[in-house]
Amino acid sequence: GELRAASQAQPNIALIKYWGKRDAALNLPVVGSLSITLESLWTRTEVRFVPGQKQDRVSLNGRSDEAETRRITKCLDLLRARAGVDHGAEVASRNNFPTAAGLASSASGFAALVHAGARALGLTLSLEEQSVLARRCSGSAARSIFGGYVEWAHGKLVDGTDSTARPLLDAAAWPLRVAVAITSTAAKQIGSTEGMLRTAETSPYQSAWIDTQEADLSVARSAILAHDFDALASISEYSCLKMHALALAAQPGLLYWNGATVECMHRVRALRQQGVPVFFTVDAGPQLKAVCAPSAIEQVKAALRDVPGVLDVLDTGLGEGARAIAT
Ligand code: DP6
Repeated sequence: GELRAASQAQPNIALIKYWGKRDAALNLPVVGSLSITLESLWTRTEVRFVPGQKQDRVSLNGRSDEAETRRITKCLDLLRARAGVDHGAEVASRNNFPTAAGLASSASGFAALVHAGARALGLTLSLEEQSVLARRCSGSAARSIFGGYVEWAHGKLVDGTDSTARPLLDAAAWPLRVAVAITSTAAKQIGSTEGMLRTAETSPYQSAWIDTQEADLSVARSAILAHDFDALASISEYSCLKMHALALAAQPGLLYWNGATVECMHRVRALRQQGVPVFFTVDAGPQLKAVCAPSAIEQVKAALRDVPGVLDVLDTGLGEGARAIAT
């Protein structure tokens, strides 16, 4: 039959952050992390392996990009090695959200690629095995294989086979919502991979970051299992600000925020002060993600839209993991 399949995956947002690698070649993290998978932002990817074709041909939102194609080829090589084939592939991938907006398109992108590619090759891989493969392509992609609340273990084995993500709680069990304030559509700053490397080499806070992560994970895990919003809010903002403090202390310092990002943080904290169940998190870019109770979403969106410099506010619930779609 035809070696062809298509899958969808959604981005995820870390509440307890991944920053730093214990093995760059295998892409193993120095710390565990914990995330929520989103619902209405997605990547849809179709993969077709073509016997006799040498190169991979890649279209991302209808365009091709050499650097992205190289990264996708590296990822497909892992699947080809498993299947014992060397066919080139045709890959067509689409996002329904702005790729340059720093919304973790690599997480949904590589989760969808691994999920579709494995099926196209007839590989029967467990979700955990798919998570391990997605991790090697981009760390945060390990988490987008699963839906809802997800934890990715740093693992102890040198080969990284235990550094997989696992589901912690279903999205439907605690259906929080997320508003994303877009504060810039300019091209990426220093990418995560390079930022993590620079941080490990130069930030004096690297060891404190590693030493305190286990405690943060444990607090967040308990908060999620108990549906304790206030506890999750405070540990998540703490982890976010701690990651940025770590990166700010690199040399040269990694400053991912713009003025509107900071203003949004203040706005979210002011809302929480007034009793609105909401907290913020920010990744390696200027967008702010506000996580809130479903009842608060309209108020949160309105407050963020009101911040000078906010260009747009997206909103989404929590969603499922990677899954097959029609080709
Ligand atoms: C700040 O997964 O993009 O979003 O493994 O080098 O591809 P690579 O990095 P990536 O890093 C994500 C960093 C983060 C925090 C997080 O998602 O946990």
